[in-house]
Amino acid sequence: MNKKLELGVNIDHVATLRQARGTIYPKIVDAAACCEAAGADGITVHLREDRRHIQDKDVYDLKSMLNIRLNLEMAINPEIVNIALDIVPEEACIVPEKREELTTEGGLDVAGQMSEVGAVVEKLTNAGVEVSLFVDPDEKQLSASAAVGAKVVELHTGTFCDASENVAKDELDRLIKGAEIAHDLGMVVNAGHGINLDNIEAVLKMPWMKTLNIGHSIIAQAVFVGLEQSVRDMIKKMETYNG
Ligand code: PXP
Repeated sequence: MNKKLELGVNIDHVATLRQARGTIYPKIVDAAACCEAAGADGITVHLREDRRHIQDKDVYDLKSMLNIRLNLEMAINPEIVNIALDIVPEEACIVPEKREELTTEGGLDVAGQMSEVGAVVEKLTNAGVEVSLFVDPDEKQLSASAAVGAKVVELHTGTFCDASENVAKDELDRLIKGAEIAHDLGMVVNAGHGINLDNIEAVLKMPWMKTLNIGHSIIAQAVFVGLEQSVRDMIKKMETYNG
């Protein structure tokens, strides 16, 4: 049996609420403290090029207050890479980024930009950051991820989570196969995007997973039950995972 499945809580949308009014609340560090108290294993934030939610100061503040891991989602943009090299989060997850998207769409095209991605993986790894690549469960992308030196991949569960009933099984099968391939290539397997209390049971069919990164649904559920309880409810579902 695998070790306990870990939860990284993405708190970007606490910042979305703050930025909507330009207020100083809700405070990112308070949200992170709630998640930590509820038993989260890490905090994830995405410092986007357009700074639509998380701001630079949030990442510095989190790094100095957290007792659990900080996972910085980031594009291979030189400005953001320099910030990551200054903060040195425990983990960085490299994602594709388009300004006009509502949220990350699709996995990173590692195979199509191996030298650019490889250079960022090397820089961050040399600085002591554990780097993961956010990829679709596709053999070509997974092989390219291993080839550029990534020790960790985060499999993009969004396509499965958003899929209509008739294609969901195929998407889940792709994720299960992707997890097997990544494991066979010697990489740690994480997963995330679009996971909620209803679809998590199916996501837990994926083998070899170490961490799930979950954001939007946890923050949305917090409106009704509070953030600590929302995190606890997700952890409870994850406890049934047997690898
Ligand atoms: N993992 C990655 C790489 C992401 O980009 C996101 C969204 O920021 C998540 C996980 C969390 O997705 P969601 O907010 O849909 O739970």
